[in-house]
Amino acid sequence: MTDLDTLLLGHADLAKAAKMLQSGQLVAFPTETVYGLGADARNGTAVAAIYAAKGRPSFNPLIVHVASMEKAEALAHFDHDARALAQAFWPGPLSLVLPLKDGHGLSSLVTAGLDTVAIRMPAQPLARDLLALADCPVAAPSANPSGQISPTTAAHVLAGLSGRIDAVLDDGPCDVGVESTIVATIPVRLLRPGGLPVEALNAALGSPIAEDTNPDTPSAPGQLVSHYAPNARVALNQTDGAFMLGFGAIDGQLNLSPSGDLHEAAANLFAMLRQMDGLASDTDTIHVAPIPTTGLGLAINDRLTRAAAPRSG
Ligand code: TXA
Ligand code: MG
Repeated sequence: MTDLDTLLLGHADLAKAAKMLQSGQLVAFPTETVYGLGADARNGTAVAAIYAAKGRPSFNPLIVHVASMEKAEALAHFDHDARALAQAFWPGPLSLVLPLKDGHGLSSLVTAGLDTVAIRMPAQPLARDLLALADCPVAAPSANPSGQISPTTAAHVLAGLSGRIDAVLDDGPCDVGVESTIVATIPVRLLRPGGLPVEALNAALGSPIAEDTNPDTPSAPGQLVSHYAPNARVALNQTDGAFMLGFGAIDGQLNLSPSGDLHEAAANLFAMLRQMDGLASDTDTIHVAPIPTTGLGLAINDRLTRAAAPRSG
């Protein structure tokens, strides 16, 4: 691994960031969910560098980010359901896993050799501008070392990947705070709960979506059990403890949302897990208050369950 100086870029450097992507460099950028680690998805060398910087297993495919429906349709086939979901929720925190189209031009490393591709059109304004300017499909996993807590600020990105990536584009903290909801089609099914609540999907589809989120037989290959892991241990559904992360009336050193608001809790989740990890030692246990499983609570509980899972090492 070469040691790089990682540039910290802002709004004024948008054109530079887009040029860096076009020339095969790795640029982390904000989305409304989490910061992504971007590379030109057609450039196999650049995509390989994403896997190397993250220490990510190459069987775990990446999400491709696009600026427009036209760009998405150049990559994949949209059936009736996929089109309806894209129309309802793009741009936004939804990724769709769709059959690849002939002549898509993506590096096979992006899809890990599958015949499908995960596509997302983010809503974050700077991300949209960057994608439009770069004018290429941008592969971007969350911008953190594989298995660790996802980044919701540029400082989080630098804490994990400084010296391993070319630049990070800073636009402050992410609004949503948990990764996109992933939906596959043919048949429609939920692969990962995320920033788009499942209730909204169900309303758009007119019936409850099937779930395919079993971590033992993951259809989203990245849905491994231990993930989002802080150094300290994590225990869920607790009401007190020395390292207590509260929610609502169940308070702690930090509280995800004193008013019990799940949007606020999602936006605070990864930053507060990092903060608690800074307070606790590796042998301590962070206790987390019960969180409802409705709305964004489903994604919050999914991430916390993985953070609490036994580590593979
Ligand atoms: O919000 C997000 O989704 C963020 C931002 C940066 O867009 N990205 C993100 O990427 O969370 P990542 O790599 O951390 O998670 C992508 C997930 C993995 O679980 C991967 O296995 C799954 O998407 N995935 C990608 N392509 C797939 C495919 N063709 N079929 C099934 N799952 C796929
Ligand atoms: Mg990730």
